[in-house]
Amino acid sequence: MQSLLGFVLLALTALAAAVPVARSEYDTNVAAGLRLLRLEKGAEPVWKSEDEKLQLKIDGQNFLDITEVYERSEKLAANKKVAAKKVNYPSISHQDAVNPLLEDLSIDSMKGYLTKLTSFNNRYYRSSTGRDASDYIFNTATALARGKDGITVSAFNHSFTQYSIIAHIDGASDGPVTILGGHMDSINLRSAMSGRAPGADDDGSGTMNLLEIFRVLTEAGYTPATPVEFQWYAGEEGGLLGSQDIATQYAEDGVEVYAMMQLDMTAYTAPGRTPHVSFMTDNVDSGLTTFEKSLVDEYLSIGYDTGRCGYGCSDHASWNENGYPSSMPFETTFGTDNPNIHSASDTVNVNGFSFEQSLEFAKLGLAYIVELTSA
Ligand SMILES: *[C@@H]1O[C@H](CO)[C@@H](O)[C@H](O)[C@H]1NC(C)=O
Repeated sequence: MQSLLGFVLLALTALAAAVPVARSEYDTNVAAGLRLLRLEKGAEPVWKSEDEKLQLKIDGQNFLDITEVYERSEKLAANKKVAAKKVNYPSISHQDAVNPLLEDLSIDSMKGYLTKLTSFNNRYYRSSTGRDASDYIFNTATALARGKDGITVSAFNHSFTQYSIIAHIDGASDGPVTILGGHMDSINLRSAMSGRAPGADDDGSGTMNLLEIFRVLTEAGYTPATPVEFQWYAGEEGGLLGSQDIATQYAEDGVEVYAMMQLDMTAYTAPGRTPHVSFMTDNVDSGLTTFEKSLVDEYLSIGYDTGRCGYGCSDHASWNENGYPSSMPFETTFGTDNPNIHSASDTVNVNGFSFEQSLEFAKLGLAYIVELTSA
């Protein structure tokens, strides 16, 4: 999760029309170690050093680091290969399939995943322990998929140390893919490479939710009508790096996506407040979000409200940028979310951190998949 402070100031300075970055300028700046950042939707990108990039995050400034995808995105825009398509989402009708699976979701199992995820010194995308976290998720998902037909777990390599992971479940027929995402990386903004960053909530919570839903579906032998993917992204805290790489690749390949849901921070409610899901309404698909509200009504024991988290606050934005329908149900009303993220204090011992709450988000993610991909 990236945060929203500085958003208004930025909006005032980001209204200039986008101008293509010249090839010579691009090559020179990349060779000098600079990164190309987009700070606001549609705004002209700006060059920043890695240190300046970290400082932007410390200042609470959102961005997409588009260095790796810049040229690819320009080409895509020129070719218009993927036209944004209006998707209609169904009404809830698969209670008989969903309800028994919800019973299988386990807090103890999620605790096991999170204990391991928080045991890495950090899961920073440029650190070796960030890569160890990739290995852990890859090995865990691979073990769950072992001996199951039609399930593949793949590494998606990037230009940096950590890699993303995609677990793909074949559909009974081909069709657009339904994606559930979360980001595996964590960051300590005071000392990114070596600082302690347990990232229990950001985004250990979403990461464990995905692992748990994947466990339940694979153990139940769930066969979707259309393909399902679990995607654990690398480098979200570096400016949505992993998810942009993947979403751009899907757009280049003409992959059709039915829906994308991002789970990034699902375990915290400020003491005194009532736990609920908060649906972000910016940089998302409103029809998909409406469908997910009906999932909350049908399957969860908590309610929902809505809010905005600003451009580039999490990986759903990478899909939105590429014309795909995406969504972002968030742990609580934006602005009252976990104040311990991006530091050594993002642990399960925080007052307000709750596995019971996070289980509700696991229920939401599971219901989302089964309602959208059952025959
Ligand atoms: C990713 O990189 C590793 C080496 O770092 C390599 O072994 C692996 O085959 C690569 N995976 C893919 C899918 O390209």
